[in-house]
Amino acid sequence: KVKKDPVYVSSNDASVIDLENEDNEEKVDLSKVETGTKIIVNDDEDDDDFEKVIEHFTSPRNVGSIENASGIGEVGNPVCGDIMKMFLKIENNIITDAKFKTFGCGAAIATSSVSTELIIGKTLEEALELSNKDVVDALGGLPDAKVHCSVLASEAIRNAIANYYKK
Ligand code: FES
Repeated sequence: KVKKDPVYVSSNDASVIDLENEDNEEKVDLSKVETGTKIIVNDDEDDDDFEKVIEHFTSPRNVGSIENASGIGEVGNPVCGDIMKMFLKIENNIITDAKFKTFGCGAAIATSSVSTELIIGKTLEEALELSNKDVVDALGGLPDAKVHCSVLASEAIRNAIANYYKK
């Protein structure tokens, strides 16, 4: 009971055994399962996985742009081609507002959203220290295959701050 992905006994999904359903847990004898049965296996730790990611994806905070932004940073993800644009308002070395526009996957949108929350009210030095790990941690984790998406947010923030310094 450790695998996350569905185990396909054969190629057709005639019936499904869901091991997340407690009644079915540990009760499946694979030698007796009919071919065509799809078995969904999950480990317990993952039960409420990615709740926060989904919440930020479905209700992202600080979407949009800032007129006359102090700094704008844009970054593209070479892995998938997704793009994120971050707008910062900076006053007395403090980020007083942050907004983003992200053309990308759910994880990119969730990481953009949570990272704006993380940097508003922070000094530029603090915001520059924000790592993609901080962003992932703030979301309570991301699926491994989506960790590359979290890099966008911290880079877009860095680019926006660099853009501010250049002005
Ligand atoms: Fe492109 Fe997530 S798949 S940022």
